[in-house]
Amino acid sequence: MSYQVHFFICTNGVTNPEKCGSKDAEEIHAQLKKKCSPLFDKKQLRINKSGCLGHCEKGVVAVIYPHNQWFFNLKLSDIDFLFSNIEQAINEPPFAGQT
Ligand code: FES
Repeated sequence: MSYQVHFFICTNGVTNPEKCGSKDAEEIHAQLKKKCSPLFDKKQLRINKSGCLGHCEKGVVAVIYPHNQWFFNLKLSDIDFLFSNIEQAINEPPFAGQT
């Protein structure tokens, strides 16, 4: 199944203070999913946890595909910000260079 927007958030490294998993990544994932699930159907959006996305020093890290839109240093207070970006991504298909 393909999705219009696929959001990945790194939850790697729960016990390592230098990794996203130790910095509220699981809770950001849970709250964002709770906020988005009633508003978007399964073809529009999929929100997944991911392993390391290769930018640990900037964690918590997330990315929207196919837009290739990255987010760094995420906090629980960024849920509304992330929601707005996801909503915008769903409403605006990526341009050719982003796919
Ligand atoms: S642990 Fe999250 S980007 Fe590496």
